[in-house]
This record gives sequence, C-alpha cells and structure tokens, in this order.
Amino acid sequence: MLRLNAKTIFRWSFSLLAMVLLAPPSVPAADIGNCLLCHKYPGLSRIDEDGRLRLLFINEATMNSSVHARVKCEDCHTDIKKIPHDPAKKVDCLTQCHIVEPTSEQKFSHKEVARFLSKSVHGLKDRDQKPKKHPEDLPSCKDCHDNPLYRPLSIFKQKVHPGISKAALGRCRVCHKKDEFIYRFYNHVTTRLHKIRSPKNIAEICARCHDDAQLAARHGLSTKAVYSYGETFHGKAALFLDERVPDCLDCHVNPGRSVHQMLSYKDSNAITNENNKGLICANMDCHPGASPKLAEYRVHPEFDLERNPYQFYAQVFFLGMTGSVLLPIMGLLFLDLLRRMFPNASLRRRK
Ligand code: HEC
Ligand code: HEC
Ligand code: HEC
Ligand code: HEC
Ligand code: HEC
Ligand code: HEC
Repeated sequence: MLRLNAKTIFRWSFSLLAMVLLAPPSVPAADIGNCLLCHKYPGLSRIDEDGRLRLLFINEATMNSSVHARVKCEDCHTDIKKIPHDPAKKVDCLTQCHIVEPTSEQKFSHKEVARFLSKSVHGLKDRDQKPKKHPEDLPSCKDCHDNPLYRPLSIFKQKVHPGISKAALGRCRVCHKKDEFIYRFYNHVTTRLHKIRSPKNIAEICARCHDDAQLAARHGLSTKAVYSYGETFHGKAALFLDERVPDCLDCHVNPGRSVHQMLSYKDSNAITNENNKGLICANMDCHPGASPKLAEYRVHPEFDLERNPYQFYAQVFFLGMTGSVLLPIMGLLFLDLLRRMFPNASLRRRK
C-alpha cells in the first residue's frame, strides 16, 4: 500500500522531477519486469532516514557487463511483485535464480559459498563446533562484496590481458559459428582465470575488521593484520598498486580452494600453519627456488618490544642510524644554502 503523507509525496515528486530533468536519450530496457523504465534515470535518488543520499539509478550498461548481467532484477529483489512498488527489502544473496547451472542441472544459487564460509575461520562455529563469541563481528556476504569495490571486468591483474583477446576469438571462430556463443563462454571462463581485484583492494576489504584492534582482541588475534602486512615489502608494493605481489588471499587460501574456505593458522590443514607455510613462498609464480626457511620471515610483524624484540631493536637501530646520518647532512646542506643565498652575511660585527 502506498501511504500518501507529505514525505512520500515530496519524495516521489522530487524523484519524478529529477527523472524529467536528467533523462538520458532513451535506451530500450532489457529486463522483463521493466524496472529500468524508472530506474534508468540518473536522477532517481532520495535522502534516506539517516540523511544520506541514496542513488537508486541503475546504469544499464554497467549492469549488462557485470557478473549478474543474466540475472533478472526480480530474481534478486524477490519481494517486488507490483508496480509502483513498496519499499524494497534487503536482498538475500542465497536466493535461487532462474538460471540453471549446467553440470548439476539445478537452479542456481550461492548456497555452496555459504557452506564453505560456515566451515572457514569466518564461520559461526569454532573447530569444536561450539558457537563463537561475538558472532556479530563475523563477515557476511555483503561485508566483503560491496559496491564501492566494484571493478569493471576489464581491469585485471597484469599478467593477463584485459577483456577479450582478438587473437583468441579468431581461434574460436575456426570451429564455432555463432559469435554470441563465443563471446559468452570466452568471457565466462577467462574472467575467472585470475583475480579481479588488486592486492590493495583486497587488503581494504579485510582492513575493515582486521585493523580494528578491539575486534582482534575480542577474537584472540594478536596483530592488526593489514597494518602489519603494510609494513612488509609485499604490502608497500601493494600500496603502490603493484599487482604482482601476494595479497591476503594468495597466502591464506589453500591451493585449489575457494577464497571462502580460509582456515586459522592454528589448524594443521591450513597452508599458513607452521608446518606448511614453506609451500606458500615456494609457489611456482613467486619464489620457485625458495627453501622452507624463507617462510620464517615474519609476514605480520608488529614493532612491539614484547612480542618481536629483535625486530623492535633492529628498527630502533636503523631509525637512529638514518637520523644520525641524514640530520647532519641536511644541516650542512642548509648552511651551504644560506652561504649561497647571502654570500656576504656574517655574524661577526664588521669593524
Ligand atoms: C514506476 C516506476 C518504478 C518502477 C517500474 C520500479 N521502480 Fe523501484 N523505485 C521507484 C522509485 C520512485 C523509488 C524510490 C522510492 C522512494 O524513495 O521511496 C524506487 C526504489 C527502489 C528500490 C530501493 C527501495 C528502498 O526502499 O530501499 C529498489 C531496490 C527498487 N526500487 C527496485 C526495483 C525493481 C527490482 C523493480 C522492477 C521489478 C523496480 N524497482 C521497478 C520507481 C520504480
Ligand atoms: C544479483 C542480485 C541483484 C540483481 C540481479 C539486481 N539487484 Fe538491485 N540490489 C541488490 C543488492 C544486494 C542491493 C543492495 C541492497 C540490499 O542489500 O538489498 C541492491 C540494491 C538496489 C537498489 C537500491 C540502491 C540503494 O542505494 O539502496 C535499487 C534501486 C536496485 N537494486 C534496483 C535494481 C534493478 C532495477 C535491477 C535490474 C536491472 C537490479 N536491482 C538487479 C541485488 C541485485
Ligand atoms: C571475508 C570476505 C568474504 C566473504 C564473507 C564472502 N566473500 Fe565472496 N569473495 C571474497 C573475495 C576476496 C573473492 C575473490 C575476489 C577476487 O578474485 O578478486 C570472492 C569471490 C566470490 C565469488 C566468485 C567466485 C570465487 O570464489 O572467486 C562468489 C560467487 C562469491 N564470492 C560469493 C559470496 C557469497 C554468496 C557470500 C556469502 C555467503 C560471500 N561471497 C562471502 C570475499 C568474501
Ligand atoms: C578445433 C575446433 C574448436 C576450437 C578452435 C574451439 N572449439 Fe569449442 N568446441 C569444439 C567442439 C568440437 C566442441 C564439442 C566438444 C565435445 O562435446 O566434447 C566444443 C565445445 C565447446 C563448448 C561446450 C559447449 C557445450 O554446450 O557443451 C564451449 C563452451 C566451447 N567449445 C567454447 C569455445 C571457445 C570459447 C573457444 C575459443 C577460445 C573454442 N571453443 C574453440 C571445437 C572447437
Ligand atoms: C606472504 C603471505 C601472507 C600474506 C600476504 C598475508 N598473510 Fe596473514 N598470515 C600469514 C601467515 C604465514 C600467518 C601465520 C602466522 C605467522 O606465521 O606469522 C598469518 C596470520 C594471519 C592472521 C592471524 C594473526 C594473529 O595475530 O593471530 C590474520 C588475521 C591474518 N594473517 C590476516 C591477513 C590479512 C587480512 C592479510 C592481507 C592484508 C594477510 N593476512 C596477508 C601469511 C600471510
Ligand atoms: C566483518 C569482519 C571481517 C572481515 C571483513 C574479514 N574478517 Fe577475517 N576474521 C574476522 C573475525 C571476527 C575473525 C576471528 C574468527 C574467530 O574468532 O574464530 C577472523 C579471522 C580471520 C583469520 C584467522 C586468523 C587466525 O587465527 O589464523 C584469517 C586468516 C582472516 N580472518 C582473514 C581475512 C581476510 C584475508 C579477509 C579479507 C578478504 C578477512 N579476513 C575479512 C572478521 C572479518
């Protein structure tokens, strides 16, 4: 039911006005429910109860090139059944959609991901199947998969070229007759052969929780993991947008597993476990000749006197040394500069 109080009328008239003013040249709406009839207008927005601007505009081109291009609006927004519609409920990422997954021939959903997640270190139960304390700290789908991190599919890790390679397309055409088929499958497979996000982006997802010292303390984690990663060579290179360095997932996900199956380093099956972590560095793509000793390098060092005394004193020593070398040099340069600028200046009184 549409409640017609002053607020609603104001909102709708604002939206309608914005639609008229900002209307782009009309594009045929592809969706069955024709949601884009209204949602294609860039001006469709409102101020929500918390005073934040919410953009309700859906860019059709972006939508059509996203991973969800083939999912209909109402497959996710299942509560919207009539137009004009009531305020929409939150979308449940585990909803089944109309797409059929060919190997199981079942309607598709992300339930498997939820199962992986529940058995990972981010699941609600610990290894003894006891419920964890502070379940509200654990990440749900939308905590990690949010829009600000959306990247078009064409931005990839550098080793792989973005988008569709013309050369490879020519190869598919030798045997397959329909371009539509080739585009669909080529994209489908190649976009999943490598990670979509840069190491910096990945670290940003995790930082929300893992740089929260209080959250870490509540769960017995000893470090601010993203901060400490940032202190290493890997982290510094990631900050400068180097996409070849390992990010959190390259080390924390066991080979061949989904990123949703990360385990605690205390788990003997985890690749980060004391006994297995040598394998991480010696990965073919990283340091193929590395001996397991390389893994003794602390990836998450915090310069803390109690926990890492060696690193602490080493850092203090280097800070002191850098200071004691650079400061005198800078002092000399400064005096030299003064002399150049004021060649005749003197502190002594002229006679
Ligand atoms: C007749 C125009 C129209 C159509 C068609 C339409 N919408 Fe909307 N929709 C709106 C307007 C206007 C708002 C903003 C409502 C408000 O601010 O209270 C909105 C808001 C929304 C919201 C945010 C609501 C909230 O309260 O958070 C969602 C989600 C949404 N629409 C999804 C859909 C989907 C999915 C469809 C297709 C099945 C659809 N809309 C079809 C006009 C439309
Ligand atoms: C794969 C699932 C999925 C599909 C397909 C989808 N949406 Fe959404 N949509 C979401 C999620 C998730 C949100 C975030 C809000 C939430 O958690 O419910 C959202 C939010 C929205 C909002 C509100 C934006 C805001 O700032 O609150 C609108 C409007 C909207 N969708 C319209 C559409 C329209 C129109 C289509 C079809 C062109 C569509 N959606 C297709 C999952 C989907
Ligand atoms: C701890 C953070 C986190 C949580 C929680 C999470 N994801 Fe993910 N997910 C990721 C990351 C990181 C990737 C890989 C992104 C990349 O390759 O750039 C990913 C990838 C995916 C993919 C692509 C396939 C793959 O594994 O690469 C799907 C589908 C997906 N997630 C669905 C979900 C669903 C559904 C949920 C909730 C049940 C969920 N995710 C919860 C972080 C998370
Ligand atoms: C030398 C010929 C040849 C080339 C080149 C080729 N294909 Fe195929 N493709 C086939 C044949 C034959 C089949 C059926 C194979 C079978 O059923 O075992 C097939 C099957 C497929 C299927 C599975 C279709 C289904 O419904 O089972 C996909 C997807 C596919 N090819 C995509 C591609 C893409 C993308 C390229 C380019 C990168 C490509 N193919 C290049 C001959 C080729
Ligand atoms: C080069 C590999 C590597 C990278 C990159 C990496 N980690 Fe780790 N991480 C480890 C290893 C190995 C351990 C096990 C403890 C140890 O040996 O220091 C660990 C431990 C942890 C712990 C538990 C630490 C504790 O104090 O209890 C967390 C949380 C963590 N990592 C999160 C992250 C996050 C988030 C990122 C990305 C910003 C990341 N890691 C990047 C290898 C890595
Ligand atoms: C919404 C908050 C949240 C987000 C986002 C999040 N985590 Fe966590 N993570 C936690 C909590 C809480 C725990 C502790 C779970 C427990 O108590 O068993 C944890 C535990 C871990 C551990 C296990 C530490 C150990 O004991 O070895 C690793 C590894 C880890 N997270 C990696 C990541 C990575 C990588 C990302 C980013 C892709 C990420 N997390 C994103 C909340 C989060």
